Amino acid sequence: MTASFVTGAAGFIGSALVDGLLSEGHLVVGYDNFSSGREAFLEKAFAHPNFKLARGDISDETALESAMKGSDVVWHLSANADVRFGLEHPQKDLIENTIGTFKVLEAMRRNDVRDIIFSSTGSVYGEATVIPTPEDAPFPIQTSLYASSKLSGEALISSYCHGYGFRGVVFRFVSMLGERYTHGHIFDFVKHLLKEPRSLPVLGDGTQRKSYLYVKDCIEAMLKVSSKMPDCFEVFNLGADEYCTVLDSIGWITSFMKLSPKLEFSGGDRGWVGDNPFIFLDTSKIRSLGWSNSLSIRQGVERTVQWLLDNRWILER
Ligand SMILES: NC(=O)c1ccc[n+]([C@@H]2O[C@H](COP(=O)([O-])OP(=O)(O)OC[C@H]3O[C@@H](n4cnc5c(N)ncnc54)[C@H](O)[C@@H]3O)[C@@H](O)[C@H]2O)c1
Repeated sequence: MTASFVTGAAGFIGSALVDGLLSEGHLVVGYDNFSSGREAFLEKAFAHPNFKLARGDISDETALESAMKGSDVVWHLSANADVRFGLEHPQKDLIENTIGTFKVLEAMRRNDVRDIIFSSTGSVYGEATVIPTPEDAPFPIQTSLYASSKLSGEALISSYCHGYGFRGVVFRFVSMLGERYTHGHIFDFVKHLLKEPRSLPVLGDGTQRKSYLYVKDCIEAMLKVSSKMPDCFEVFNLGADEYCTVLDSIGWITSFMKLSPKLEFSGGDRGWVGDNPFIFLDTSKIRSLGWSNSLSIRQGVERTVQWLLDNRWILER
């Protein structure tokens, strides 16, 4: 039985991964400091005999090393996952994401755990000139501290793979949608519309083009790749086979909520510094393994809105 160690286990994607690993028969230890994670997301896992939770911060080397003991594979998902506010606290991405990844790798080395699976981001491509963007596209220029910190994490992992004989898989995700969604434009829009249904502030001019993926499709892809780890290091893009504009998404959200708010654009072709106006990843590498997304972006958006409407407590922060 594979013993899986999941950092960020109580988060949006981490908790879905925990559920997926448990249903595949893994023994799972979840590790989380609950800075953005929720105990409620682990309700199903707590009821499973193969799940254990260790509360802790990845910066706590002793706690991390001891919780990881006996694991076969580390799924490293904990991070500051917020791209937008990086410039307001320039150390946060470095400490949580880059140094945090280093701490995880060192705890693995001390525990003789050699397999790591890492949640990176399509934001590392910056403003890519090749679209759809493949894993080997040139992308020297970073436009957000978040993406820089994730790319540094990727670099550390590949160095540990080459230097210490680790095996690593990096997933570059587009934005995820679905149950337990806690951050992103749908969260902000639904929260606003429940309070003020007649108007909707929109960052940028609404023409930004983005790809998204339903979280359970993401987990299925991660599990598929992990069942045959590479000899050394591999990178996979993960996203849907389509993109939409922010205006498309607003149309789906508002018609689902049966509202017609007046849109108030902040203007410009992007929402904030570092917001890439066109994200669409080439996912032919993961698709060649037989994976495909089960939900369209529209279906993912609608499922997310439904989940938020059914779980309004999450909007209260
Ligand atoms: N959600 C997306 O659309 C998206 C897109 C690209 C990449 N990612 C990456 O996927 C991963 C999961 O993202 P998410 O959306 O589930 O975010 P999330 O904020 O819901 O989950 C992150 C989890 O990590 C925990 N955590 C944060 N810092 C920690 C620390 N120092 N020690 C221990 N635990 C800590 C949080 O409490 C939370 O449970 C992140 O690495 C994120 O960068 C997410």
